[in-house]
Amino acid sequence: MAMRRNSIIKGLEISEIITMLNKAYSDEWLAYYQYFIESKVIKGIMRDAAIAELTQHAADELRHATMIADRIIQLGGTPLTHPQAWFTHANCEYGEPKDFDVVAILNDAIKGEQCAISVYSKLVDITKDKDIITYNMVSSILADEVEHEEDLQTLHDDIGEFIEQIKKSMA
Ligand SMILES: [Fe+2]
Ligand SMILES: [Fe+2]
Repeated sequence: MAMRRNSIIKGLEISEIITMLNKAYSDEWLAYYQYFIESKVIKGIMRDAAIAELTQHAADELRHATMIADRIIQLGGTPLTHPQAWFTHANCEYGEPKDFDVVAILNDAIKGEQCAISVYSKLVDITKDKDIITYNMVSSILADEVEHEEDLQTLHDDIGEFIEQIKKSMA
């Protein structure tokens, strides 16, 4: 019997949804790797707190990639099978860490989260009232990305304050 899973999608081409999800899928893998490598190369003040945060974010981005791959397959598509395709499909730029200082790394990571927030808020708008399953998924990913940005910004501000205190105590 024909499956009804795709008949619940209204006013959107399934192939379009798959294309958009593959773009987000690319972003998630690149974000995962960015966090992974940042957590390895990072240097400087409060490094351990930053490593804990970056490692948690890497795990979240990998979980997002898994959710998106599963949804692409459920829609009858194929997640991109070659890592090279991530660079041509991604919405967000890969923020290669060049300066390993904790503040620079956190700034790169915050930029990435801000891009992810714009991508998912667009996907939420596109799928609303049209594809409830994808809509629920992108909404929950969006909530995670908002939390990521906030966590990184808080850590960034704490480190800034700490540096100020040290400067004062040495003056
Ligand atoms: Fe993500
Ligand atoms: Fe994120």
